[in-house]
Amino acid sequence: MEDKKIILSGIQPTGTFTLGNYIGAVRNWTKMQEDYNCIYMIANMHAITVRQGPAALRNHTVEAYALLLACGIDPEKSVAFIQSHNPAHAEANWVLACSTQFGELSRMTQFKAKSEKHPDDINAGLFTYPVLMAGDILLYQSDLVPVGIDQKQHLELARDVAQRFNQKYGDTFKLPEAYITEVGAKIMSLQDPTSKMSKSDDNPNACIFILEDKDTIIRKFKRAVTDSETCVRFAEGKDGINNLMSIYSVVTGKSYDDIEREFEGRGYGDFKIAVGEAVADHLAPVRESFARLMANKDYLKECYTKGAETATRIAYKTLSKMYKKVGFVPSR
Ligand code: TRP
Repeated sequence: MEDKKIILSGIQPTGTFTLGNYIGAVRNWTKMQEDYNCIYMIANMHAITVRQGPAALRNHTVEAYALLLACGIDPEKSVAFIQSHNPAHAEANWVLACSTQFGELSRMTQFKAKSEKHPDDINAGLFTYPVLMAGDILLYQSDLVPVGIDQKQHLELARDVAQRFNQKYGDTFKLPEAYITEVGAKIMSLQDPTSKMSKSDDNPNACIFILEDKDTIIRKFKRAVTDSETCVRFAEGKDGINNLMSIYSVVTGKSYDDIEREFEGRGYGDFKIAVGEAVADHLAPVRESFARLMANKDYLKECYTKGAETATRIAYKTLSKMYKKVGFVPSR
């Protein structure tokens, strides 16, 4: 690879991506391909910390991979692979677990939240998941890790573990930095604009899925919760309108000033329809490309096989260093 900084990120294959995943994450990933060496992973090993049907996980994994490509990840430019195809992740996980403290894992807020949500399945994997994630990052000597704010604590843990390992055994890992994206970083629920848009929301109108058809998308935007004013402007306390403006701004490239001018003297109804149409038009090529890719499974397989080979080659350089440093005897 050329001498550019290394970016690594992952996304879990739990159902189709939302507009929030797309705007907050994957769309930025595609842009970074020009300036960095990018490695993108479908985190299917992370996904089983929460109970998944095997058939659903299998389908979602391939769909998520196809979606990455449909959104513009170029498998010739970036390494795009499926986590379980590279055994180094599971192997690094064990060694790093032995440099991670029970106490620090106990402080992870996502673990607390997820155990409350699934009280009947607080499995050990859910608890040690940040160690697996640290391995994902450290194996590739990543410089930057684009993540949402909800993953920031896990990233800090990865840094702490890397630092501790480096101190104990000598320099092994580069210390990664979080790359928190600003504009459109957080797309909020259309029904409760004070909480994040989530695919697991009980209200189907709260969340836009990027493969939904135009009519559905427009209908959901028409029902979006706003406020009792009638003026389209970005302001404190106008969470619903702010969210719609930020979505509209991302998909059209218009500034907030442009948008306020465009909708001056027009009601929220017009604005919501305009946002819905702009989003649907923006996503149409992704939807078409996804359908083409899903109709060509051989091509997809070729891509993820090649991605896994490259990822494995890179990761094993670090893994063999780790094994040597901790004192594991080489087999030959
Ligand atoms: N844990 C991340 C999430 O749930 C996904 C993920 C797995 C990840 N491994 C990663 C993100 C490594 C960044 C780097 O969103």
